[in-house]
This record gives sequence, structure tokens and C-alpha cells, in this order.
Amino acid sequence: MLSVTCKAPVNIAIIKYWGKRHEELILPINDSISMTLGTNELCAKTTITASEKFQHNRMWLNDEELLFEEDSRLMRCLKGVQRLAHINGSQEASLSWKVHIASRNNFPTAAGLASSAAGYACLVYSLARLYGIPLTEELTTIARQGSGSACRSLFGGFVQWHRGVLDDGSDSVAEPVASAQHWPNMHVLILVVNDERKKTSSTKGMQRSVTTSQLIQHRVDKLVPERIANLKKAIKARDFQSFAEITMKDSNQFHAIALDTYPPCVYMNDVSHAIVNFVHTYNKTTGTVHAAYTFDAGPNACIYVLKENVAKLLAEIQKVFPHDSIDTVEYLRGLAVSPESNIEQNSDGATDNSIHTTAEHRKVNGMLNVQPKNLLKYIIHTKVGDGPCQLSDDNSLLINGLPLSH
Ligand code: DP6
Repeated sequence: MLSVTCKAPVNIAIIKYWGKRHEELILPINDSISMTLGTNELCAKTTITASEKFQHNRMWLNDEELLFEEDSRLMRCLKGVQRLAHINGSQEASLSWKVHIASRNNFPTAAGLASSAAGYACLVYSLARLYGIPLTEELTTIARQGSGSACRSLFGGFVQWHRGVLDDGSDSVAEPVASAQHWPNMHVLILVVNDERKKTSSTKGMQRSVTTSQLIQHRVDKLVPERIANLKKAIKARDFQSFAEITMKDSNQFHAIALDTYPPCVYMNDVSHAIVNFVHTYNKTTGTVHAAYTFDAGPNACIYVLKENVAKLLAEIQKVFPHDSIDTVEYLRGLAVSPESNIEQNSDGATDNSIHTTAEHRKVNGMLNVQPKNLLKYIIHTKVGDGPCQLSDDNSLLINGLPLSH
């Protein structure tokens, strides 16, 4: 019996992948770039055990057993890594042995928090460790067939997924743009508006966009290539202003395409729009761009912000979106926020540039037409992080091939 346990990160797209040119191989119509998040705050953890005694391949996700169907994305990943292992002449685990897989996320599944990306990246990385094969670009083509965005979670830092041009998808690979250490003070606040399962999955939504949106082709041909080049320059130069502008514009454009889809895919809600408004007001009031929002296929906001500006931004978020949670540990999750040493206080205790009492703030609240309290369920503070890694055996989610809870 052989067993490995690994963890893999979530990634958040800065330039969004939206639309496929091949459904089964999961080949995208445009390049995308993402940032990998720290695994301490958000990650998938997977244990795979292979044994000659197992009768069938089995998989448990968050303790619930899934069907291991022949034609599933899961099976395609398993067969893909086994084929690579066979070519590499791997001896690590007999390729004919069946596998038992247990996987867990330390955050809500399918809530627009990129759980499928972390999950499939972890599956493919763990299989590669099991069969003793290295992390190569080719491995990213297998993770891609689990969930497109998963190929980007095989690396840390900033990652580009190339759409590729070949019909077999062999050039549709993920490649690191810069490591996490290149821009270590790049932090993220995830404002969780709703962590329930989303109504229209990304897979279905993007299918509908490709067949019905009249704007999507212009995005693919003209806008994304320019943005990819400019974003890579901004990342290399650690130019937050340009990074932020591209991030926000691409998020807005993705949701414009979603609305141009027929029937439309509506992922953002009123609270999401209030967050957009808040970020623009905040940036205007601070006189420079300190925060950049992006939204995936759900209402939750990811706000990029440099470490030195986190405390100040968070203080403003808590004023504009107050929460009366008595349990701050549950409400403010993830990295600790260092004291607001960099915020100057006025004689009345208000912070400089505070937008709390401005007309703009009232506008944000007015947009919602409700008492603006408890609109955010919780906030996760995290930062740019590294790629997947193998964990020691004490982290195993399987005992003798069965989940711990059995
Ligand atoms: C909006 O990778 O979840 O998050 O390939 O069909 O599994 P499938 O879709 P998925 O789509 C992610 C869409 C997005 C943008 C992004 O992550 O680039």
C-alpha cells in the first residue's frame, strides 16, 4: 500500500478565463493570469492511497463519497497522470492498483471561491507525487482537464495560462510569471457576501456566453492580448497602480460579458456593487489607488491591497459595512492585521481621509436601500502564496484506505 498527502492553493484570476474552444479537453478561448493565494488561509488537502487490495477506484470530497464515473473529469485526471507515469517508466506505485482518494477544502466548496481549482490541482499534484513524476508544463495540461483554472494552481505567485493553438491542447499550459517572493507584500481581503453554492456554474455560464454573447469575441481578439502584456509589465515592475486598474477593468468586463449572455448570468449582487462603489470612493479619497476589486462567478469580492495599506482599508470596510459579530475570530479570518500605526488620527479621533462620514459613504449605503449592517458574512485576510506541496503522513485523510470519519 502506498499513500501520499498534499495541499494545493486557490488562485484568483486577474485576467479572467471565460469561454472554451474545446469542452472536453478544456481549451480556453483566451489567455488568463492569476495570483496564487496562501495555503494557510485557503487550500485543498488530498490523500491518495493505492493498494493491490482495493477493488474499485473511490473518492470522498469533504467526507461525501462521489461517483467515480468512467467519462468524468476525475477519471480523465487519473488516467492522464497514469499515462505520464507510464511514459516516464515510473516504479513508485503499481499503475494497475486502484486508488482511494479523500479531499477536503478548508473553505466553502463551489461558492465562487475557486474550490475546484484548488481541488483538481491537489488531485493531480498528489497523483504525480504518488507515481514519482515531476511537476512539468505537461502536468498542467492534465490539471486543466479537471477544471480549467486548476492548471494555474500548480504554481505559486503570478501564473499565466496560455490558450494555445494546437487541437490536442498540448500547448495550452500554465507557466509562472513571477514567484510569490517577487511581490511578497501583495495581500488580499476576501469579502464573503455569500458562501452558498452558486446558481449557474462557471462551466454552464461560459458555454452560454460563447454561444450567445456578441461582445466576447472582441474581448478575446483585441482586449485580452493587450491586457495580458500590460499586466505582465505591471507585475514585473511591481506597479500597483497599473495592476489595480487592469484588475478592476477586467473584472468589470467579465461581468459585462456575463450580462451580455442570453439569458444573462448574474453573479454580482447589490452588495457586490456597493463594494465596487466603496473601492472607487476609497481610492478617490486616498488620492491614489490603494485597493483593487475582482469578482469571479459569484458575489464575493477579492480585494488586492499592499500589506502597508491593509489596516487602513480594513478599518474603512468595517465602517462602511459594519458587522455586529461578537466573535471577531469567526468574522475576521486568516492573517492577523498589524495595528494601524500608519494611520494619522485627527483631534476628534477620525482618521485622515476617512470616508466614513462623507457624502460618498452615504451614497454607498443609499444604493442598498437597507440598513447596511451585517452585509458581509466574514472576511478572509490572505496574501500571495506558493504552489502545492507534499505533507507528512500525520496529515493523512485516510486510514487503511477509508476516510477518518468512517
Ligand atoms: C470566473 O475553471 O471553474 O473563475 O474549466 O469549466 O471547470 P471549468 O471552469 P472554471 O472557471 C473559472 C472561471 C472564473 C475565471 C478564472 O478563474 O479565470
